Amino acid sequence: MRIRVFSDAAHLADAAADEIAAWARLDTPSPTIGLAGGSTPRAAYERLVRRHLPWRRVHAWLTDERAVPPSHVASNSGMARRALFDHVPAVFHPVPWDEDPAAAAAAYDAELTGFLPRGARGPQPGLVVLGLGEDGHTASLFPGTAALDEREPGFVANWVPQLSAWRLTATLPLLTAARRTVFVVSGRHKAAVAAEVLAGGGDLPAARVSRESRDAVWLLDREAASRLDG
Ligand code: 6PG
Repeated sequence: MRIRVFSDAAHLADAAADEIAAWARLDTPSPTIGLAGGSTPRAAYERLVRRHLPWRRVHAWLTDERAVPPSHVASNSGMARRALFDHVPAVFHPVPWDEDPAAAAAAYDAELTGFLPRGARGPQPGLVVLGLGEDGHTASLFPGTAALDEREPGFVANWVPQLSAWRLTATLPLLTAARRTVFVVSGRHKAAVAAEVLAGGGDLPAARVSRESRDAVWLLDREAASRLDG
């Protein structure tokens, strides 16, 4: 696991965009990129609009989604479209909307199987970009939630009592099957949890994903890294 710290959120977004662009260029013939939702990665996605990349051969998907229609302000698919995929000819796979979260998750699970390469244990993502919640969640794998017990690579509906809401998320085995995992963390409000996760983090979901990933790199701005030792 490697850790890179950047002076501010703008330089962090540049670096995250560089990671995604490098993967899109180098992972031939058909790069796959799993993207985080939330607010942190948006600036990186926006920067990619101006990069000249082989978009037509890139499959982009979402590592999690809120259980809302794509037009909803909280939709990760909507955020990714506005930031990037309405502007470049990538093959973007938004999470389908369904009143029944389990049906939406099952449909997406089948869609992912249709384009992710097969690895030893099932679908194998190429690059996965993840964020970090203040409670140590990543994707929509929140502490103490049922999805953390999933033993197979896939995409599932996950009831999150902390939010009193359904979420849709890649399972831990799917995320950790990725050939490369990039965490992007910004802001002083993430400093404590980033320090805890990067010090080992016990059973925090983000710590488990990072520990079990094949090639994990953490990109943080100076504020998010302010509680790291050394
Ligand atoms: C989501 C995410 C989630 C996110 C963290 C951090 O759907 O919200 O995928 O895991 O990465 O909650 O969110 P921020 O980047 O908004 O702080």
